[in-house]
Amino acid sequence: MPKITFQYAGVTKTVDAKSGESLLKIALDNGIPMEHACGGNGFCTTCMCTVKSGGQNLAPRTDREEHMGITSDPYRLGCQTRVTGDGDVEIEVSV
Ligand code: FES
Repeated sequence: MPKITFQYAGVTKTVDAKSGESLLKIALDNGIPMEHACGGNGFCTTCMCTVKSGGQNLAPRTDREEHMGITSDPYRLGCQTRVTGDGDVEIEVSV
């Protein structure tokens, strides 16, 4: 089971995740305050986060991310980025 470590507002929290879940869902399910003004539909970029490690354990960048201008590492949209496989990931969330 992959473990996702979120860093936000001076807090570091590591949680279990299921492969296939988005970073936004994992964050919200665990009480981590990831912004999501468009409701997780890929239209606002408020869920943008920084991948600090484990990016190889995330699904490839989506067309929606590219359309929103999130085109280069280490940046991803939390609502569009799904965990794949069993590897661990470390994410910095802007709050
Ligand atoms: S919640 Fe709006 S782009 Fe992710």
